[in-house]
Amino acid sequence: MNPATIERYKKHVIANYGRFPVCLVRGEGSRVWDDEGREYLDFFPGWGCGLLGHCPPRIVEAVREQVGRLIHVPNTWHTEPQGLLAEALGQRTTWNAQSFFCNSGTEANEAAIKLARLNGKPNRYKIITTINSFHGRTMGALTATGQPKYHQGVDPMLPGFSHVPFGDLDAMAAAIDAETIALMVEPIQGEGGINLPPTGYLEGLRQLANQHKLLLIFDEVQTGMGRTGKWFAHQLYGVEPDIMTLAKALAGGVAMGAMLARPEVAEKLRPGTHAATFGGNPLAAVAALATIDTIEQQGLLQRAETIGQRFQSFFEGLRPRCPWIKDVRVRGCMIGVELALDGAGLVKQCMDKGLLINCTHGTVLRLLPAMNLSEAELEQGCSILEEVLVTVKGEGQG
Ligand SMILES: Cc1ncc(COP(=O)(O)O)c(C=O)c1O
Repeated sequence: MNPATIERYKKHVIANYGRFPVCLVRGEGSRVWDDEGREYLDFFPGWGCGLLGHCPPRIVEAVREQVGRLIHVPNTWHTEPQGLLAEALGQRTTWNAQSFFCNSGTEANEAAIKLARLNGKPNRYKIITTINSFHGRTMGALTATGQPKYHQGVDPMLPGFSHVPFGDLDAMAAAIDAETIALMVEPIQGEGGINLPPTGYLEGLRQLANQHKLLLIFDEVQTGMGRTGKWFAHQLYGVEPDIMTLAKALAGGVAMGAMLARPEVAEKLRPGTHAATFGGNPLAAVAALATIDTIEQQGLLQRAETIGQRFQSFFEGLRPRCPWIKDVRVRGCMIGVELALDGAGLVKQCMDKGLLINCTHGTVLRLLPAMNLSEAELEQGCSILEEVLVTVKGEGQG
C-alpha cells in the first residue's frame, strides 16, 4: 500500500477504526482491487451494504443520471423519487407501512425510539431490547444496544431502556411494566453473532405486544432488503411489526436509512418533531429504487435463499474434519459460523489468500455475501475457507 496514504491517515484521520493496511480503489460485483492491483473476492461487501455487490450497474446508472439533474433539496419540497420509494417499500410490506427517510441505521433507530415515545405519551416511555443486540452508535440507539462494552466510557446512557436475553419470552414478559411502550428486536441478531430466533419467538413478541398494547419494533438494518431471501426477515416468520428500520443494503451501497411505521403509529411524527436534512434525497432515493428493481428483475430473493443453502451444506460438510466448528447459522445471505476458537486470525488468513470475510463477537465468522454472487465465486471462496478452516487443527481448540 502506498506509504503516503498510511502517513496521511496517521496525521489527519481520527484513529477510531482498526484498519487493515490495504487501500481499496475499485470494486465490481463481488470483487474489489487494492492500489497494488491485487484482487479480492468479497464475502462481506460494504459491511452488509453491498447486497448487490460493488458498483451494481443499475444503481451506477441511476445515480449518474440523477446527479446531473438534482442532487439534494430540503424536505420542505416534494421530489418524485422519494414518493416512489416510499410507495415501493410500503407495497413490499403487508402492513401498509409509511416511510421516513434518513441516512444510516442508527438514525433510523433514533427515529423509531422517538416515534415510540411520542406514541407513549403521557405515561409510557420505556423500551425493552435484547442482550447482544446492535442498534447503532448514537446515544439512543447505543442505549438500546444490549452490549455494555459499547456503553463504557460514554455513560450515563438514556433512561428508560432495559435488556433481556434474546429468545427468552418469559424474560421479556417479566420486564414489561406500566411505563413500557415498545419492544425493540432484530429478527435475527447480526453483529451479536447471526443469532436466529427460536421457534415461536417473534410470534410470542407480537402476542406480548398485543396483550400489553405495546409497539413492536423490528430493526431490519442488517436483515432487510432481501438479505434473508424475503424482502424483510419478519416475513420469514409471518410476524408483522408496528415499526421497522432499514439502512445498509437499502440503496445498493449509497448511504440511506429509513423508518417504516403503520399509518396510525406514524401520525404522531408531525412537522417539527423529527427531521433529517439529507433524508430521502433524490440521489439516494433513485439508488434505492434501482436496488428494488434489480432484485426483482433478476429474481435475487430466490437466489439469496439458494446461496444460503449452499453455504449451510458447505459448512455442515466441513464439520467432521473441523470439530472446532460449533454451530452453523444461516438465513439466505446471512451466514454465521460459530467457532470454538478466536476467529480474527482466520479472517487475516483468508485475506492473505484473497478472500474478505468478517468475524464478530470474537468467535463467529460472519459472511454477508452479495445476493448475486455467482456459483464460480461461491466455489472459489469456499475452497479458500476450507483450506483455512481445515488447517487450524490443533490450534486452541476447546
Ligand atoms: C441491526 C443493526 N442496526 C443498526 C445498525 C447501525 O447502522 P449504521 O452503522 O448505519 O448506523 C447496524 C450496523 O451494523 C445493525 O447491524
